Amino acid sequence: MIDIHTHILPGIDDGAPDWDTSLAMARAAVEEGITGLVATPHHANGRYDNPKTVVESLVEELQTRLNAERIPLTVYKGQEIRVNTDLLEGIETKELLSLAGSSYVLLEMPSSTIPERMSEWIYELNLLGIKPIIAHPERNAEVLQHPDRFQRLVEEGAFGQVTTHSLLGAFGKKIETFSWKMCSESLIHLVSSDAHNLSMRGFRLAEAYEMIERKLGPACVQTYQTNARLVVENGDLEIPLIFDKTKPRNWNFFRKLFANR
Ligand SMILES: [Fe+2]
Repeated sequence: MIDIHTHILPGIDDGAPDWDTSLAMARAAVEEGITGLVATPHHANGRYDNPKTVVESLVEELQTRLNAERIPLTVYKGQEIRVNTDLLEGIETKELLSLAGSSYVLLEMPSSTIPERMSEWIYELNLLGIKPIIAHPERNAEVLQHPDRFQRLVEEGAFGQVTTHSLLGAFGKKIETFSWKMCSESLIHLVSSDAHNLSMRGFRLAEAYEMIERKLGPACVQTYQTNARLVVENGDLEIPLIFDKTKPRNWNFFRKLFANR
């Protein structure tokens, strides 16, 4: 299994605070069956800035330490990039990191809204040959209220990454229900841990895939796992064919879900 969204690098964001935790997280990942993960520290989110050179040297050092400790895990470089007006320039000048050197970038929207220019950025990124993956849309307040707006972003060329903890109920029942609905509507292309530590925000990737197999079937697990591998191999992602395209989407489900908020 490959995990494309983790905060395993030590001391640079709200993820692992030190090398001991990074290595403990790596051991926990391997125990779950994870063979490779992308280190995606927060970048440009107003609280953390982790430029390319910092990430590259820490990924290199982590891999050296993993090899020395004989922990069979490959670490790839990446960033969780908060979308902002400098996004396109950062991509064009190659100051920003894609995931594992691929054409895929991991983008984080603010937690409350979908930025007005999101469609424009997705369009421009696609023109540059860059494929945007939007991190945990299920936790964005505007997406929760207006899932059709996220659907539009997907139709415009974005991919959706749901977090294992959302599927497993760690962020509450509404986000859990919403996450499964997004999966079943084919708005999600990747499942990742967004692991920050070993206590409340671990990996739980194997557990999430077991649940996906029970609820959505083995073919869906296969697609999500293949897609995670295709990101690091820079292949074209598969679209999970859960949604029955012969039927119109019923967004009333979401409206009812949030009617009492
Ligand atoms: Fe994250």
